[in-house]
Amino acid sequence: MCGIVGYIGKKCNLKKVLIDDLKTLEYRGYDSSGIAIFDGNMKIIKAKGKIKNLEESLKKIDIKNSELGIAHTRWATHGEANDINSHPHRVGCVTLVHNGIIENYVELKDDLIKKGYHFVSDTDTEVVSALLDDIKKKEKDNIKAINKLTLVLEGSYALGIIFDDDYEHLYAIKKDSPLIVGICDDCNLIASDVTAIIEHTKNYMLMNDYEIVRLSKDKVEVFDKNLKIIQKEILEVSWDINQAKKNGFSHFMLKEIHDEPTVLKNTISEYIKDVHTLVNKMPNFSKYNKIHIVACGSAMHAGLVGKSIVEEYANIPVTVELASEYRYKKNFYDKKTLVIFISQSGETADTIAALRNVKADKIDTLAIVNVVGSTIAREADQVLYIRAGVEIAVATTKAYMLQVAMLILVALNIAYVNKSMDVEEINKILKEFKKLPKFVDEIIAREKECFKVAKEISNQEDVFFLGRGVDYALSMEGSLKLKEISYIHSEAYPAGELKHGTISLIENGTIVVGIMSNDKLAPKLLSNIKETVARGAKILIITTDNLNMEFDFDCHKFVINKVHNILQPILIVVPLQLIAFEVARQRGCDIDKPRNLAKSVTVE
Ligand code: G6P
Repeated sequence: MCGIVGYIGKKCNLKKVLIDDLKTLEYRGYDSSGIAIFDGNMKIIKAKGKIKNLEESLKKIDIKNSELGIAHTRWATHGEANDINSHPHRVGCVTLVHNGIIENYVELKDDLIKKGYHFVSDTDTEVVSALLDDIKKKEKDNIKAINKLTLVLEGSYALGIIFDDDYEHLYAIKKDSPLIVGICDDCNLIASDVTAIIEHTKNYMLMNDYEIVRLSKDKVEVFDKNLKIIQKEILEVSWDINQAKKNGFSHFMLKEIHDEPTVLKNTISEYIKDVHTLVNKMPNFSKYNKIHIVACGSAMHAGLVGKSIVEEYANIPVTVELASEYRYKKNFYDKKTLVIFISQSGETADTIAALRNVKADKIDTLAIVNVVGSTIAREADQVLYIRAGVEIAVATTKAYMLQVAMLILVALNIAYVNKSMDVEEINKILKEFKKLPKFVDEIIAREKECFKVAKEISNQEDVFFLGRGVDYALSMEGSLKLKEISYIHSEAYPAGELKHGTISLIENGTIVVGIMSNDKLAPKLLSNIKETVARGAKILIITTDNLNMEFDFDCHKFVINKVHNILQPILIVVPLQLIAFEVARQRGCDIDKPRNLAKSVTVE
């Protein structure tokens, strides 16, 4: 959470450059933002709320063209979202921006107060600035001073730092928060991720924990923990700037739903030629008799779909756990367990911590990740990239779909290895998989139907999603999508469990969305739906064309193509995403940046 960016280079309209770069990081947090530019004087401007507020404030301030600056977009952790708590923080000779959380800041602050420092904000970051200023009183060398800082700080941080005694350089360091360095002909940059540098360059370096970087206009020097200069590999961003633009769509979320057919096709085509290609392109799963899936948010929901599929078709037990729980609990695994970590960003703090615990126990790990070179991708023993491209909307859509697609491929692979499915059937499924991008496209083309249904939902206070088996896992994602962007209270329930308490919440007019794709469980679900109809619920059913069920109650029906059960989740999720989008649009919500959320959750 929080995004940082820094620039040193050719003299330019730095307010514009930094604001433009910062906007690409707004998905990381948008409670407030701020900028520090040295144009002969250090100018610091901050504004509560989205970056456009900062942009407005900057219009009134005279800043000369300049060569050095840092900027920050905040997801509030310590102290409310106001101007004072916004970054950059400046104490003495130090001005800095920070992404992360300093865990021992209270003790540090007490010590610094005793030394005579006064604090104006509630933030941990102001304490870091003061601490570095204090260190600088004895240690004139800035690299050594930063190194000393790391010996005292506990927690996570990516810091962009400007020292008053050295306006020729920009400094940065990271621990457990992402940081990259962009390398251009006429400037060098630091940022929380590559989206912020892509307007300038495709060349970047990935920083590791405790490495310190010193940037000048034409030079980048990286120092390791022992303060030795090291040579870092220069990587190239593989995607195009247009991927980070709306390209005519009103919202990133809608654009990203429309991206689904293309990215699905691109990703699966590498694996689905035939079963041998599938097996050769993936890790060898033959030694495992148990899988744990660990993730957060929608990635965890994708894991639940994966559990259902792997257990059913590959015949091995799977447990799915939230990373924030898994990291602190006793886990039962052995050398025959594979722990799969799913993450769009590859930077989710809880998922990283859980991964590190598992690795410390020497258990095999596999990451299913979108962002290439992210921490989880780098640290897991093996990685499968979903290659969904850049996803900007906070609510994930295409990445969720591709996480599910990748888990289906994993399930088929294990099914082959375990001989729990015969080769012919796997090849048949792979053949049908090829048709899915077209089917997804066809569902998206029916978005108006989804939008009509959305009208019914948009004035509701509560919506219930019901399903059984894999449809329950999909209900959870449908419910999360709706609540996170439209702010309508919503619950997903395993339909058979409703009568043990939750049915008491169903009243006249309550909307119930039933997901009914599983042939075997459909009649059971229908009985549960009828129990809600009897209590006045209004029903929307998302189902498949083979079921062709007649309902003796009024309902909206959204019918999609029947494909093999293992593939069906990929199609079911599309109307759920479109409905959530349209409900939020009709309610006038900020769809791409829902309140209180951030896309990349880099704090615990
Ligand atoms: C945030 C995002 C979700 C995402 C979750 C896990 O809450 O808003 O869309 O599912 O984090 O993120 P990850 O990057 O690990 O998939």
